[in-house]
Formats: sequence, structure tokens, C-alpha cells
Amino acid sequence: MNKQRQSKLFFDLLARFYDWFPLGWWLRRVQKKVIAVMNPKPNAAILDIGCGTGSALKMLLDQDHKGKLVGVDFSPKMLEKARQKLGKRVLLYHADVARLPFKTGSFDFVICTEAFHHFPDPEKAMKEMMRVMKKGGKLYLADVSFIFSFKRWLFQKIEPGCVHIYSKQEFKELFQNTGFQGINQHRLGLLIVLTRGTK
Ligand SMILES: C[S@@+](CC[C@H](N)C(=O)[O-])C[C@H]1O[C@@H](n2cnc3c(N)ncnc32)[C@H](O)[C@@H]1O
Repeated sequence: MNKQRQSKLFFDLLARFYDWFPLGWWLRRVQKKVIAVMNPKPNAAILDIGCGTGSALKMLLDQDHKGKLVGVDFSPKMLEKARQKLGKRVLLYHADVARLPFKTGSFDFVICTEAFHHFPDPEKAMKEMMRVMKKGGKLYLADVSFIFSFKRWLFQKIEPGCVHIYSKQEFKELFQNTGFQGINQHRLGLLIVLTRGTK
């Protein structure tokens, strides 16, 4: 079974429990930190790729964000959970990051938390995320990245649908090779690297 299909099955099964403690609680902490660093203007158009059950978009809603809020995910069951949480104010799409159903230059911000290591074609995913951003738009990509290569290798083996656990340097190179400017990285705790860049 290919990784994409594994991911879809895995998250379709996990969707019911995804928001539960401790996983859901920990992931929401990561999303909260990303949103705090992003600090978007009230009217900014924001796209969440691999939005899962929609917790990051819910945080933006709860902050009374006025701009367009959109989520994309490949798992119908995760999207169902997101729909229950977000209602009609947020647009949700069942789509693959490699083929986003948006016009070029649609968003001020693209965020992607804890999802990138599931994307089968990282270069294509980066290009697509960049394509849908406005000129000057920003990508915030937070993903699990252990400091030691052995742990990265082990996680890759254990998590269903995991394509690759990237090092901090690999994320930097992906941003550079896609043509992002003003690349900036830092760790959010021990397990997560946040990489941001401007189109
Ligand atoms: C670990 S969850 C992260 C969800 C959420 N962003 C969070 O921080 O909790 C990864 C999500 O990426 C989605 N995903 C995996 N491959 C994808 C792809 N090719 N295109 C879009 N979404 C994908 C999965 O369905 C899943 O909901």
C-alpha cells in the first residue's frame, strides 16, 4: 500500500480520537504557538494545509479573525470532525496538497502543522503551497523533527503513512530550493521545528 493511502486510512481511523488528551492537547499547543508567531492582520486570507480536525482554524475563529479562513485535508473523516467544529464560516476542501483547488496568489498566509512528513512529493507540495500564496505572503510550516537522526529514522518506521522525518537543515533547503525569501527557523520545544518564509 502506498504512503498516501496509508495516511488516509490512518487518519480516517484516528479522526474520532484525534482531539483527545494527550495527543490533541499537545498538537493544539503547537498550533497556538504557530498562530502567536504568525500574528495575522484581521483581514488576512489564511489557508491551513492538512488542517486535520480544524483546531488551528478554530483558534483563529475564536480570535474573531475577519479574513478568509480555508482548510484542506486528504482524510474525509478528519474533515468531518473539522466541519462539526467550524460550521459554515470556514471553507473546507477535500484535496491533496499536490493539487490545491485555488487560484495562484489567493492567500496571505499558508500554515501547515504536523502534516508535511506525510506528503509523498515534498518538492511538489512546497511549490503548490507557494503558488497559492500572494506575493509577499508567508508560509509557516511546523513539523516534527527530532535532533537525532536515529529518532527520525525510528519515527519514520513507526508512524503509518509517514514519508520522511526532516531535519532542520532539510526544511531550510526545501524552502531555499522553492525560492522562499527571509527564511527563519526555530524549535518549538524539543520535537517541533517551525520554518517560515516569504514568497
Ligand atoms: C498529524 S495530522 C495534523 C493535523 C493538524 N494540522 C494538526 O496540527 O493537528 C496530518 C494531517 O495531514 C493530512 N494529510 C496527509 N497527507 C495529505 C495530503 N497529501 N494532502 C492534504 N492533507 C494530507 C492528514 O489527513 C491529516 O489530517
